[in-house]
Amino acid sequence: MAAVDIATAHTIDFVRQWAPPGASILEIGGGRGDLAAALSRDGYAVTMIDAAPEAVAAAQAKGIAAHQAVWPQFPSLSVDAVLFTRSLHHIEGLSAALEAARARLNAGGVILVEDFDFPSANEATIRWFVAQARRTAASNTLTAHSFAAVILAARDPFATWTHDHDHEHHSIGAIDEALGAVARIVSREDAAYLYRHLISAGADESPVKAAFGEELSAIERGLIVGVGRRIVAKAHP
Ligand SMILES: C[S@@+](CC[C@H](N)C(=O)[O-])C[C@H]1O[C@@H](n2cnc3c(N)ncnc32)[C@H](O)[C@@H]1O
Repeated sequence: MAAVDIATAHTIDFVRQWAPPGASILEIGGGRGDLAAALSRDGYAVTMIDAAPEAVAAAQAKGIAAHQAVWPQFPSLSVDAVLFTRSLHHIEGLSAALEAARARLNAGGVILVEDFDFPSANEATIRWFVAQARRTAASNTLTAHSFAAVILAARDPFATWTHDHDHEHHSIGAIDEALGAVARIVSREDAAYLYRHLISAGADESPVKAAFGEELSAIERGLIVGVGRRIVAKAHP
């Protein structure tokens, strides 16, 4: 059985809180299908779409029912959960995207959003990430041009922090508002997120695991901000 990486396992914990194994899931913007594959192994019935053909091909190679489509253009399908992981801030036409997601829900179904709020990071949080990136770089080669590599090379990490996320279409505030307009928000949570930016393909996962544990603990002690966001919504009764 394929090993599940720490970031995928973290997201699976979130999905499990709201949809039991066996549930049908439409994952939108699923990328290369690692999460979809792990959810399928856990007993979920997953359909994945992504706009990028190479991502879809990679997901199909993992045995996923993956389709190349630009949401909300996708044939009708009703599911127990519609899942967006780090994809919603990229999707043009936020209201239409979320209205279409709500329209696909079975009775009692949920929309699950996992995203982030970079502007919420305070100075302590940014300093924490720089230190983690430095520590990870000492034992792993950071992926070239990754956020961690860019922050480490930056003369002013605080300016770079904001600049690096300027290209995103939607803020978490806009996502929250658009979701609340089409469905009933039942949960909002902050989450550990920055450790994900320390992952580099094929590298030793132990520094990332250590950073994940430290991020959770620092958030719990109020030392840094949890930059991850998880929002859950249900159709209005
Ligand atoms: C940052 S990646 C996230 C991938 C994956 N969910 C993850 O967490 O690693 C965003 C993905 O959303 C996809 N995407 C963006 N807009 C889309 C749309 N309208 N419909 C389907 N996929 C879309 C992109 O092709 C990309 O694979």
